[in-house]
Amino acid sequence: MLQSKIAGIGYYVPKNVYTNNDLTRFMDTSDEWIQERTGIKERRYADRIGETTTTMGVEAAKIAIERAHITPEDVDFIIFATLSPDYYFPGCAVLLQREMKMKEVGALDIRNQCSGFIYALSIADQFVKTGMYKNVLVVGSEKHSFALDFSTRGRAVSVIFGDGAGAVVVQPTTENGKGILSTHLHSDGAEAEKLAMYYPGASSGIWLDKMPNWPDQELGGLLMTKEMLEDGTAFPNMDGQAVFKKAVVKFPEVIHEALAKNNLKTSDIDLLIPHQANLRISQFVQKTLGLREDQVFNNIQKYGNTTAASVPIALCEAWEEGKIKDGDLVCLAAFGAGFTWGSALIRW
Ligand code: ACO
Repeated sequence: MLQSKIAGIGYYVPKNVYTNNDLTRFMDTSDEWIQERTGIKERRYADRIGETTTTMGVEAAKIAIERAHITPEDVDFIIFATLSPDYYFPGCAVLLQREMKMKEVGALDIRNQCSGFIYALSIADQFVKTGMYKNVLVVGSEKHSFALDFSTRGRAVSVIFGDGAGAVVVQPTTENGKGILSTHLHSDGAEAEKLAMYYPGASSGIWLDKMPNWPDQELGGLLMTKEMLEDGTAFPNMDGQAVFKKAVVKFPEVIHEALAKNNLKTSDIDLLIPHQANLRISQFVQKTLGLREDQVFNNIQKYGNTTAASVPIALCEAWEEGKIKDGDLVCLAAFGAGFTWGSALIRW
């Protein structure tokens, strides 16, 4: 079986910086509350018009492709992870394909929230390992800012999230012992509603009147109503404490699983790049695993939680800052809505 590696990596964040103090213009919050609870100092928001999940993904992909020494025409499969797609359908992968003038290759969207990039990387790894594809583009991108509740009612959720994109190119490698060593994926839907955005969704039971030509009844179909915006049900909903409790258990568990699979120990990890959910979660995981502070990379302070984009943005930034060297053992791990979680162990 072939081995796969990350051959190129890139990230893009929008230019618009919103500090915690900037958010106090819209809601009752404070720099002190946000920093103490989440570690976040500022985040980026995409331009309202013209900058989308896809366009940010394209910017990150261009860099990853160039660094992999290929061209967009060489990409033979595209995987795009996002929970904030430009359209309800089709997905962002085909939009990126069109934008980058790629060939008629397969294009797949992944909807696994904060674990989306790890899921996407794992799929890319399998395709490359079996010899099916040679240049898989994996993108994680989010434009959260268009769907957050910026009133005081939504502050516990909205202060956490930011916009951005990261991308990698996955290729086969012949270097023995190097590349993606293993990936590990898990999910448990038992607490799906602890972190969710319900609409538009077919189980909502919310019907909008006056939908034309509905077959059996007077009632209408599923569209976002003014009432949903007014009562807040249109926005993401999170039980923060339930998420915290589960995350601090599942992160270490899935990292231990990856290490055990490869007969390695936590002390072998050169750099852990956790999904940037919350600085307190990362610090808890670091202590639980007995890692030093410098073994864990965090940049949530600058970008907030960018969900499917957070791992590739952090990986790229760590690499650009020289924190990942040839031969290093890098562990990626994520936990998010679903709940879903996963890890990937890479010998760089
Ligand atoms: N600014 C000021 N006050 C706030 C804010 C805010 N942005 N948000 C909530 N508050 C208030 C609440 O209204 C509440 O006030 P009250 O005591 O008068 O009722 C008080 O702060 C405490 O609220 P809690 O929700 O209990 O706050 P908590 O200490 O649990 O912190 C947080 C909330 C930060 C979300 C925490 O639960 C947490 O860290 N959870 C982990 C979830 C997480 O990180 N999610 C990231 C996304 S999911 C993922 O990526 C895996």
